[in-house]
Amino acid sequence: MRAIRIHRFGDPEVLELNDVPISQPGENELLVRIHGASVNPIDYKIRRGAVPGITPDMLPLTLGRDLSGTIEAIGPGTNAFRQSDAVYALIGGLDRGSYADYVVLKPGEAAPKPVHLSHIRAAAVPLAALTAWQGLFDHGQLQAGQTVLIHGGSGGVGHFAIQFAKVRGATVLTTVSARHIDFVHELGADRAINYQSERFEEVARDVDLVLDLVAGETQERSWSVLKRGGMLVSALGAPPQEKANQAGVRGVGYRAQPNPAQLVEIGRLIDEGRVRPVVSDAYPLAEARLAQQRLETGHVRGKIVLGVAE
Ligand SMILES: NC(=O)c1ccc[n+]([C@@H]2O[C@H](COP(=O)([O-])OP(=O)(O)OC[C@H]3O[C@@H](n4cnc5c(N)ncnc54)[C@H](OP(=O)(O)O)[C@@H]3O)[C@@H](O)[C@H]2O)c1
Repeated sequence: MRAIRIHRFGDPEVLELNDVPISQPGENELLVRIHGASVNPIDYKIRRGAVPGITPDMLPLTLGRDLSGTIEAIGPGTNAFRQSDAVYALIGGLDRGSYADYVVLKPGEAAPKPVHLSHIRAAAVPLAALTAWQGLFDHGQLQAGQTVLIHGGSGGVGHFAIQFAKVRGATVLTTVSARHIDFVHELGADRAINYQSERFEEVARDVDLVLDLVAGETQERSWSVLKRGGMLVSALGAPPQEKANQAGVRGVGYRAQPNPAQLVEIGRLIDEGRVRPVVSDAYPLAEARLAQQRLETGHVRGKIVLGVAE
């Protein structure tokens, strides 16, 4: 089968289209024919050698963390799925990747694909949507009637976070560049803050939750917008505890985990038309270099996806 792999860290040129054997599913595992795989910042961070703990001795690696596809073969012991079922999934380990024709999924990774979505649009969902869901609800404990400030609302994670927070009944403020203001309003944001021309701390006050998808100076300036007892949840590592203590709030870092029950819930919201994944561009698998460059150069609206199977 085809797989996009890296044998060394570097620029997009290190992405290679290789021919590799198809693995067979073991006990409780599924072999999935991949139809679509999304492109996430973690993919180019891994490619660059910028992710702590991912070292040259772990190469070659197949890139890609999430996918939509159909079940090709089922290992012994699996009752939840049948051959040809359409599924979508976040892959839990770096031992496998979704920039490929096939992948073996472990128990606790796959959920039924939302029926009303193409595989390309379904592939856009798992990593970004689970990151948004877990940041807002598992870590941030966002409740109806509360106010959340989402940094980076127009990107892959942010565009889901805006929609989930609105479904939950929260007031949503979000920072975006000028070109995306209309887009985030269409997604339901109550207030779009143009981070190029406005200081968000002059707009946002007494916020219950900050979902930080940007880090750096944006995170540093965020402590002052929180009410006492509020929370800053960052998808980019644990924020400094002394800053949280000084502000009288909590600061939490997290990494998204596979969660089929949450994918089912998210799929239900999508099939009901209450949440929509936005795909800016789809590229063929063989053009993974271009797809990563597109995401890396920034300002993508929603998601970039690789189309794998015909
Ligand atoms: N911990 C985890 O498990 C986890 C999971 C997924 C993602 N992440 C991380 O979370 C971050 C976002 O991921 P993503 O998939 O949403 O990336 P993305 O699709 O590239 O979106 C990033 C967005 O950030 C916006 N942005 C850039 N600078 C900004 C600023 N100063 N203020 C506000 N917004 C700004 C950009 O919007 P404009 O075009 O409007 O500038 C862009 O749309 C990445 O660093 C990623 O690695 C972590």
